[in-house]
Amino acid sequence: MADTTVGSNQQEWWTEYYSRMYSAAPTAWLDLSNEEVQAQIFAVAIEAAGAIEGRRCLDVGCGHGQLSTGLAGLRAIQVVGVDIIPETIISCREKYPHIRWECGGPSDQVFVESLGTFDRIFLVEVLQYVDWESTLRTLWDSVRPGGRIVAVVPNKDNAIVQNTMARFHGMYLPPSPSELAALVASLPDVDFRAFRGIDFQQDQRLVPYLASPWVTTGELHKPANRLNFAIKKES
Ligand SMILES: C[S@@+](CC[C@H](N)C(=O)[O-])C[C@H]1O[C@@H](n2cnc3c(N)ncnc32)[C@H](O)[C@@H]1O
Repeated sequence: MADTTVGSNQQEWWTEYYSRMYSAAPTAWLDLSNEEVQAQIFAVAIEAAGAIEGRRCLDVGCGHGQLSTGLAGLRAIQVVGVDIIPETIISCREKYPHIRWECGGPSDQVFVESLGTFDRIFLVEVLQYVDWESTLRTLWDSVRPGGRIVAVVPNKDNAIVQNTMARFHGMYLPPSPSELAALVASLPDVDFRAFRGIDFQQDQRLVPYLASPWVTTGELHKPANRLNFAIKKES
């Protein structure tokens, strides 16, 4: 786990990185490889979330807000999209006024508490930029009974991800499946949790990733490129 010094540097570092990216008019899929990767990542997250209609949803690290708008389209009762970069929040507010957009990060406990509680909390491609352990602990307190945290995150055990980690010199800090499982085991009131890998497949003509079966132990048979997991709270 990152120590607190790395934690604060990490937030500054990624804030600067994404500020530069947003001022350069990024593609819709930001720093993911392409729009199909992004679409499938949203799809696996929504599948792991279960029903959305009538649920209050939080999208942490919302980027351009596509997942948030999708959740609103699935009739979430309210969607809150948050991101650390003011430019993208301002642009989302202008484009999608039916959604609540707030600028802030999940490591700021006061900010997180100000958002209220949620039935579904999504962390799609953001846990690698934060202290994922304290972030999950903080956000778990904001999950309503019967609610879920759902995430997609790079897998620290994967060789391609390890190359990216080396490129970003200790700022890109995704979890391994076993680290995640250990953290989830320490959370209170967990009703159920499940993990799966999503890994690039050879024939990507339809979709880039192949999802492995769900497991509850965090032991995946192969170090897939991404991890998708859901943690459900007792009702
Ligand atoms: C790879 S993009 C993913 C965006 C969106 N979830 C998606 O999948 O299209 C990562 C996003 O996380 C945001 N981010 C990075 N660090 C953050 C932090 N500490 N708090 C909130 N958002 C953060 C970035 O500004 C960026 O919009």
